[in-house]
Amino acid sequence: MKHERMRQAADTEREPAACMSRREFLLTGGLAASIVALGALPGLAGAATGLYALRAEYPRLRVGSISTLKEGIAHTFDYPYPGVTNILAKLGTPAGGGIGTGNDIVAFNTLCTHLGGDLSKAYKPEHQLLGPCPRHLTTFDLTRHGMVVTGHATESLPQIVLEAGGDDIYAVGVMGLIYGFAGNLQG
Ligand code: FES
Repeated sequence: MKHERMRQAADTEREPAACMSRREFLLTGGLAASIVALGALPGLAGAATGLYALRAEYPRLRVGSISTLKEGIAHTFDYPYPGVTNILAKLGTPAGGGIGTGNDIVAFNTLCTHLGGDLSKAYKPEHQLLGPCPRHLTTFDLTRHGMVVTGHATESLPQIVLEAGGDDIYAVGVMGLIYGFAGNLQG
């Protein structure tokens, strides 16, 4: 019995520090999902070691072109389903998950992870932030995978996984749970 408890404790210690809870991870059963390492976050060298997030893969969709993006101006697009709105922005500073020559092109879902406040008009290009949320003022850092800077939310903003193909920008997945979705499974 004692050995069994020690073995369980050791197993728990070996689990990665995921950004989503175990319950949320289990809710994604059946979806093509994987846990990915976030790597070093800009400005947090070393501190980010061991950070992981749940990534769900969706059909590749062209969402913009690199040459037409301008710093400070965010574009909106729907992904992975119609009506699920995200912003695409060139931050002008390297960002976690950023693509392009400056690693500064990112996309995020615009529903606040606290209670679903609409963040689609809350982009603050001067600080690379999304927020404050119009409902309870949560603000998210777009350079650090949508991490909460201040406010009521406890989960990072879901980041849309981007890939570049020449000048084209493609959405290929979602990292994190979109507010109101049980594992991002509804189609
Ligand atoms: S809904 Fe955004 S902070 Fe509450």
